[in-house]
Amino acid sequence: MKSYRKEFPVTEKYIYLDHAGVAPVSNRVKNAVGRFLKESSEEGAFKYPSWQELTDRARVSAGKLIHAQKNDIAFIRSTSHGLSLAAEGFPWKNDDNVLVYEGEFPSNLYPWMHLKRKGVDVRYIPSRDGKIGIAEIENAMDRKTRMLSISSVQFSTGFSIDLKAVGNVCRKKGVVFCVDAIQSLGVVPTDVNEYEIDFLAADAHKWMIGPEGIGFLYCRKELAELLEPVLVGWKSVVQEFAFEEPSFLLKKNAQKFEEGSMNMMGIIGMGAAIDLLREVGVAKIEERVKDLGDHIIQRANERRYSVVTPEARKERAGIVTIRGPFDPSRVRDRLGEKNIMVNVRADGIRVSPHFYNLEEEIDEVFLQMDRAIKSGE
Ligand SMILES: Cc1ncc(COP(=O)(O)O)c(C=O)c1O
Repeated sequence: MKSYRKEFPVTEKYIYLDHAGVAPVSNRVKNAVGRFLKESSEEGAFKYPSWQELTDRARVSAGKLIHAQKNDIAFIRSTSHGLSLAAEGFPWKNDDNVLVYEGEFPSNLYPWMHLKRKGVDVRYIPSRDGKIGIAEIENAMDRKTRMLSISSVQFSTGFSIDLKAVGNVCRKKGVVFCVDAIQSLGVVPTDVNEYEIDFLAADAHKWMIGPEGIGFLYCRKELAELLEPVLVGWKSVVQEFAFEEPSFLLKKNAQKFEEGSMNMMGIIGMGAAIDLLREVGVAKIEERVKDLGDHIIQRANERRYSVVTPEARKERAGIVTIRGPFDPSRVRDRLGEKNIMVNVRADGIRVSPHFYNLEEEIDEVFLQMDRAIKSGE
């Protein structure tokens, strides 16, 4: 795995441990996007067919990452975009409710809160020591619960929920299951069929190690048929190239959410990013990242810092958040001065390594933290 480290030029200057924030892209992504721009500037639309082919390949790769068919994938410009398509397109009735976790990232709260105008109530699943219990989820459901939307991994605590167990409960209760997967895709193997997921959205710029502002939405076929596309354009319809004989017959699959010209540059970059992950193997990446997480926890425990993230490997993915007798923002800034990138969440330092990081880098982070704290941050 270490051989892939040279794919990441960021390692030459920085210790980069903020993949839960914005990831630095690989040479593969840089080259794929660079090639697109070169072709675009030198040959324009003569290259259109080959860009279409690459776009199609990216769709297939995105599908394979979650065990889905390419027709159930729509390209989106952010996780918020994907979740909003599900929220706004769903056929709600007055008094329906949707369940979310109370500590969610706002991308997975506001689209649901925005449904108040349609008479939809948002119900909050309470947290239990930063974890989300399956029993609490089930208890929060009633006969008006139509959908549950949850992050696979919580952005601040790093808690990773058992999606299969949640999917079981949703299926049993007839509740649609929506997942914000941005904090896990690329680092946790995911199977939308096994977990009975109906919608899944993620942008590429975190654990997929792709460009910012491009992602994908998975939408189960039966639900795609049911959903209203809120944005409509020339590509929403079956005969998308019949410009001179318009026929407003909407596509029935997830691609009905792609209303117009696509962000080919972003899609090609994301495709290259996903291909790299699949080449390394997401199951292997998960093991490696969790080993690095073990290392962070060990170093934190040696210093008697508290570990906000659950220590059990199955309850975390890539994020480890730690608290200590220090001001996290000041420590983050001191680390930044030493070319170390971490972030601040949950009143602690959030460390989020990917598979190409090294134990030595984590040791260096703790060494620099020790120094910062000793010198009064
Ligand atoms: C759980 C979660 N969802 C969504 C996002 C980002 O959403 P978007 O892709 O809409 O920018 C983040 C970013 O921090 C996140 O942690």
